[in-house]
Amino acid sequence: MERIVINGGRPLNGEIEVSGMKNAALPILMGCLLVEDKCIIENLPEIDDVTLSLKILSAMGMSVRMINRNTVEIDSTFAVGGTAPIDLVRKMRASYYLLGAELGRFGRAYVGYPGGCDFGVRPIDQHIKGFEALGAEVNVEGGYVEVIAKDGIRANNIFFDVITVGGTMNVMLAAVKAEGTTIIENAAREPHIVDLANFLNSCGAKISGAGTDTIKIKGVTELHGCTYAIIPDMIEAGTYMFAAAITKGNLKITNVIPKHLESITAKLEEMGVEVEDGDDCVTVKYCGTLNRINVKTMPYPGFPTDMQPQMGVLLCLCSGVSCLSEGVYDNRFRYFEEVKRMGANVKVDGRTAVIEGIEKFSPAVIKAVDLRAGAAMVLAGLATVGRTEIEEIRHIERGYDDIVGKLRAVGADIEKVTYPDDTEPVSKAN
Ligand code: EPU
Repeated sequence: MERIVINGGRPLNGEIEVSGMKNAALPILMGCLLVEDKCIIENLPEIDDVTLSLKILSAMGMSVRMINRNTVEIDSTFAVGGTAPIDLVRKMRASYYLLGAELGRFGRAYVGYPGGCDFGVRPIDQHIKGFEALGAEVNVEGGYVEVIAKDGIRANNIFFDVITVGGTMNVMLAAVKAEGTTIIENAAREPHIVDLANFLNSCGAKISGAGTDTIKIKGVTELHGCTYAIIPDMIEAGTYMFAAAITKGNLKITNVIPKHLESITAKLEEMGVEVEDGDDCVTVKYCGTLNRINVKTMPYPGFPTDMQPQMGVLLCLCSGVSCLSEGVYDNRFRYFEEVKRMGANVKVDGRTAVIEGIEKFSPAVIKAVDLRAGAAMVLAGLATVGRTEIEEIRHIERGYDDIVGKLRAVGADIEKVTYPDDTEPVSKAN
């Protein structure tokens, strides 16, 4: 059993470097399946979801060779479709990108139904609608999704009923080699959509409009290998920006694209926190106040749902009453039960939380209920004088590259502690 243990209440000061973006790396790794050649992917974050993705690709017959800690060479020449091990696929939402990638490469796909964080119902009906529009038949049976395009993939126009990151990327993957031009309307506009398009274009695809709500994919017959570097992770960056604010510190966060952080920066400034943009860095400085604000999460360029738990914890320590609305998922407030154990004053009603600021948290043993909620618990611990212990940290390790080491380097008293499985840890927490 592993826990993160934090003795908080110290302002963080110094520089933190951000790693490559998880939600760009995963579709790009799966996208390598489309390329019957060698691809070199750089700036990969060292996180469990990347390790899991590489295991899945190896099990499918692809050659996977780490060149260094953040660079991998993948050759998918001998990949076999329909062979992704179900026990691995079930552990990660992003395994659904194999559907689009297998369909694009082999004209059929057979992949276990994806897992992932639990935010209520997370259907894939829009992915299915997209595959059907491209001429495929889709069956979901026995825990697997089977997609077959008997007469090959045909380009088509697809209008998504909801803005979906995964659906947009999956249709892009499936349509890259379709005959004709596919147009996706009401597409998601996240930076990782642009990153996947840039990667595929570096391999010879013809995708335009990524980053807008209309994406055009002109089918090509063949893709070739390339060397491609993943963009920095805006959610990891945002998490460390909040770490500066919540610890009353001053952090320079490097290897970022400040444009991607605009909605996060705007909210910090509204609270009274100073944010200064550089070319590829932001500096965040606490200036004596954390004012209450209202926040609603939305698809990009709105405030990201993947920063909502971190925002929820920060608002707990702002002066006054804040209102936090979740605009993407039905059930992403479960983490408040954990911060309530630290004294937070929050009322949740459906997709809205009303948060009355308190002066300080009291230390407790708390749980990472999912990935971003786990990062939010780390923020709570950093802000709290005394010993906070976080359980179920496997969620955090799925998506944060060396969070403990990075925070320790800027002054946090934080460590990962391993307890024997059958011993209940002796905690000094209240
Ligand atoms: N939706 C549908 N039907 C679909 C697809 C989505 O109704 O076919 C709904 C979802 O239920 C949700 C909304 O549309 O209410 C948006 O879902 P989306 O498809 O955009 O999310 P996703 O692709 O499943 C990715 C990230 C999430 C991130 C969301 C939103 C990956 C692997 N996951 O999920 O990341 O929250 O986009 O930006 O890229 C995380 O990193 O912690 C994380 C959860």
